[in-house]
Amino acid sequence: MAKVKITETVLRDSHQSLIATRMTTEEMLPILETMDQIGYHSLEAWGGATFDACMRFLNEDPWERLRKIKDKVRNTKLQMLFRGQNILGYRHYSDDVVEYFVQKSIANGIDILRIFDALNDTRNLQTAIRATKKEGGHVQAALSYTTGPVYTLEYYSKYAKELEGMGADSICIKDMAGLLKPYDAYDLVKALKESVRIPIQLHTHYTSGLASMTLMKAVEAGVDVIDTAISPMALGTSQPPTEAMVAALQGTPYDTGISLETLDTVTKYFTPLREKYLADGLLNPKALKVDVNALMYQVPGGMLSNLMSQLAQAGKSDKLTEVLEEVPRVRADVGYPPLVTPSSQIVGTQAVFNVIMGERYKTVTKEFKGIVRGDYGKTAVPIDPAFVKKIIGDEKPTTCRPADKLKPELEQLRAEIAPYLEQDEDVLSYALFPDVSKKFFEFRKAKKYGLDADNADPKLGVHSV
Ligand code: CO
Repeated sequence: MAKVKITETVLRDSHQSLIATRMTTEEMLPILETMDQIGYHSLEAWGGATFDACMRFLNEDPWERLRKIKDKVRNTKLQMLFRGQNILGYRHYSDDVVEYFVQKSIANGIDILRIFDALNDTRNLQTAIRATKKEGGHVQAALSYTTGPVYTLEYYSKYAKELEGMGADSICIKDMAGLLKPYDAYDLVKALKESVRIPIQLHTHYTSGLASMTLMKAVEAGVDVIDTAISPMALGTSQPPTEAMVAALQGTPYDTGISLETLDTVTKYFTPLREKYLADGLLNPKALKVDVNALMYQVPGGMLSNLMSQLAQAGKSDKLTEVLEEVPRVRADVGYPPLVTPSSQIVGTQAVFNVIMGERYKTVTKEFKGIVRGDYGKTAVPIDPAFVKKIIGDEKPTTCRPADKLKPELEQLRAEIAPYLEQDEDVLSYALFPDVSKKFFEFRKAKKYGLDADNADPKLGVHSV
């Protein structure tokens, strides 16, 4: 029986989930050479929210981070999370931007791209998959896991087959909300193993308290790779602890081959960092408890905290239960999308409006109109035409691949940001986060010339609009 392999998430999802993506490159570097010797299948180290957070909160260049990590990790594959046509941003980008981003990610050190779409619309994955193949990268195509009337084993098997046909080198079950229950995981992995020949990886979150059991049942069903986080940065909204999974599988046909003794060096390294995050408030003990709402309402942890803060701002914190009950109804109205960025924000915000306005869809957000119009792609269940009409009136729905409506953007972006360019990659940072990147470029320039970055000339565009 094949061994189970491990992807360690401490450098990306684990700190994205627990401490709002605030781990710095300096905090990562000292342990990388040790981690490179552990025998992990891969290190998830980049993508997701890390790109934005580097520039926005840490004054770091995300590309520089990637190169520094690659410099110390010579044996283990580096993995990133890539949001299909959204890349790492929040809208669809034109194909030339997607292609160039993939090219530069691989050139700077990424080996495996985990590519997903919030709606599981393969048209939103086409360009990223094709570009990754062209650059010689490993395409890990992800299915965004959710539950609902259409999400049967047949649905996922058919989707996985389609992804394999598009050139995927492996498939990831991406359970971003920790909804996947142990016995469902067993059936799903079995079904996928029967449908495709490529390896299956499982990514889940501990949010609902099920994740270790879920990984175990997936292992028994033949999953090839599992995502875990080193214990000081595991559990809660993060992944199950690496050490516990390694120990659980030791001496079985699924043995990971990883030694607990060498792993202990990694544990010891991150333990004081955890203490530091707890002390400075970055790590909220609330993020570590079992979240029953995730099980009851299928609301991902990150989405729950957004809802709570939106309600608090409106002075309606007492309406949380009503909003949590409204979320599944709104989700049903728009064709049962999986709740992951950006659909989680769109559905969540609309549910908040529906409750606080006292009338459903009295106020409709621009993004909600967009999802109903088909701007984000096709939903698994077609949206009722009467509902479409109610939300967008006589506007024409988008039926083509959404990115087909976008003209190439790179040249224009290059022209706009020319005075700031210090490396080819800068145009991509600007494409995804125009205001945040400009502010960062300004900081970088000031630092280079020994100026006080906080007092950089505002005429140079420090302030975002
Ligand atoms: Co995740």
